Amino acid sequence: MTPEEAVARIPRLEALPESYQRLQTIAERPHSTAEEVAAALSEDQGLASRCLRLANSPLYAFPSRIDTVARAVAVVGTRQICQLALAGSVIEAFKDLGVDGLRRMWRHGIACALTARQLSLGLREASSERLFVAGLLHDVGEAVLAAATGLASPVGDGEERIASERNRWGCDHAQVGACLLARWNLPDSLVDAVGRHHQAPCSCHAVDCAVVSAAEGIATALALDGNHLGPALPVMAECWSLAGVRIEALPALAEEVERQFEEVALALGMERGDG
Ligand SMILES: [Fe+2]
Ligand SMILES: [Fe+2]
Repeated sequence: MTPEEAVARIPRLEALPESYQRLQTIAERPHSTAEEVAAALSEDQGLASRCLRLANSPLYAFPSRIDTVARAVAVVGTRQICQLALAGSVIEAFKDLGVDGLRRMWRHGIACALTARQLSLGLREASSERLFVAGLLHDVGEAVLAAATGLASPVGDGEERIASERNRWGCDHAQVGACLLARWNLPDSLVDAVGRHHQAPCSCHAVDCAVVSAAEGIATALALDGNHLGPALPVMAECWSLAGVRIEALPALAEEVERQFEEVALALGMERGDG
């Protein structure tokens, strides 16, 4: 099966939720105001409250509580709030697909998202929210494959897992994830970062690719998703250097990610639990 065939097997994933599409259309208008963006986001109460919870989470640590969507858009920023809405919308899109292990996958994604975001803070020209979303979605193809085939992904990490998936299905979760995001017309930087998270970065979006690969390695070692602590995925030296990973800074980075993890997971509806 090709990645396109895997994605096409799940008609529900044809498009992103309409509320997100409306929000994005308004946010992309050249002169849209924060009020208009807030009004569009407020049309979907579930999505609005997820964004509000994220704005009040340790991701931002604003000094006072943000009570309204309008205030969240004003202080977080239009482009940034749209990225948070994208994160919430994708989680929503997968909610009722009946995929086993979905919570574990999202919690691993959240650990990777927080790590990618921390790494982005040390890089020029890197948007924290964009890399947060890329980290969150990097393994989304696993859920697509599980829903498309009714089978769990083969166990193992990195190249071993990719090889088993290709053997079994003819395509792997990184390709399928990239295919889904491209179908949703999401930016190429996101498509590439997801599609290449088990291989060397591409030249067009090298930093995004490297940050996600490095973040996945670190997040896997932290085992915040409840898996047993395993060895970090072998992350290519090129990724570590492009992502600005400094070995001596890793303990502080890990501590920060661990500190933020449960509250951000709760904000995204992925607190500890079954499934
Ligand atoms: Fe992963
Ligand atoms: Fe992966």
